Amino acid sequence: MEKQALLQEFHERFGREGAQARVFFTPGRVNLIGEYTDFNGGHVFPASLSVGTWAVARPRRDGIYHFQSTNFDLTAQTEVSSIVYKKEDDWVNYPKGVLAELLELAGDEAAVYTGADILFHGNIPNGAGLSSSASIEVLTGMALSELAGCPVDKIELAKLSQRAENKFVGVNCGIMDQFAVAMGKAQHAIMLKCDTLDYRYVPVELDGYTIVITNTNKRRGLADSKYNERRAECESGLAILQQSMPGIETLGDVTYENWQMYKDTITDETVQKRVNHVISENTRVLKATDALKKQDIALFGELMKQSHESLRDLFEVTGKELDVLYEEACKVDGCIGTRMTGAGFGGCNVSVVKNEAVARFQEEVAKHYEERTGLVPEFYLCDISDGAKEI
Ligand code: GLA
Repeated sequence: MEKQALLQEFHERFGREGAQARVFFTPGRVNLIGEYTDFNGGHVFPASLSVGTWAVARPRRDGIYHFQSTNFDLTAQTEVSSIVYKKEDDWVNYPKGVLAELLELAGDEAAVYTGADILFHGNIPNGAGLSSSASIEVLTGMALSELAGCPVDKIELAKLSQRAENKFVGVNCGIMDQFAVAMGKAQHAIMLKCDTLDYRYVPVELDGYTIVITNTNKRRGLADSKYNERRAECESGLAILQQSMPGIETLGDVTYENWQMYKDTITDETVQKRVNHVISENTRVLKATDALKKQDIALFGELMKQSHESLRDLFEVTGKELDVLYEEACKVDGCIGTRMTGAGFGGCNVSVVKNEAVARFQEEVAKHYEERTGLVPEFYLCDISDGAKEI
């Protein structure tokens, strides 16, 4: 939707009275490599997309926040003095959680949050693992802090959005998604170390290749509880390794060589597999960003494939649909790298495909995926765009 059309929709819903409404945008993201490394203090390599979420927002003076969306019928409101999680508020729990964090951050200055009308509109496929929730969170943080006249810097917005998701929504996610959608840069991916938040932008120049995102169109059922379970397994693995290596604070601190030396101290086979994935994946991110800088796209693609296999066999978060997409993508001549992206259990795959093979890739993958799963996939050509901004 264009800015003018969004404003018009806002005025029809909330009237024209009051201050000038402002419009903000936050993208979705795709992670090129580095899965389940973020909450383990490792590296990730995401990029922000051109699809995303818009918000039209205007301040009120009565302490009430009204939330509406063009995508969902459900609307909800909250008083600034009593923000509570309500299951029936569904998607509105994301902006409410962020508002609660904004108030906490503002401390003695919290009185600047006087209420607002806010209309959301998004075009990120829902539940596809392209960070539609992180997009709403960071967007809310930017819009409401701007309206209150106390803008919060983008890294702080990412951090408070993650806290909202952890504490308010109850998913123990890492920082990757919120950081990527806040800080994204057109034509670049972000090499981020997730414990220190040191980051650098790496140009994504894939001469002759296209990044294709394929949606399994499988809804991510039970994903949140499995996600929290994986996180707990990683934490128990870390606690065991710390007995031999007291200096480590996260799994991201463990080199592959040290892992080889101490892996047998973890006797639980499942926990050992989870940790094996995290440590090898972290090494792959470093190799992959290096390969990209040297324009070694073949190596980059190979590392993507290794990443998928590790997520399938060791971390066990792929599932039938993502594995079928992976297998069918690997068979297409001209597809040089492919893997699941995001939390898994459904959602999307990301592939690097030679430009001249993109049409054939879509045709062949769609045909065989549908035959094998009964589901129709969707394809999006990845367009790496800027992070959160006012428009
Ligand atoms: C989800 C989470 C992220 C990250 C990925 C897996 O997208 O929100 O924090 O853990 O899964 O890499």
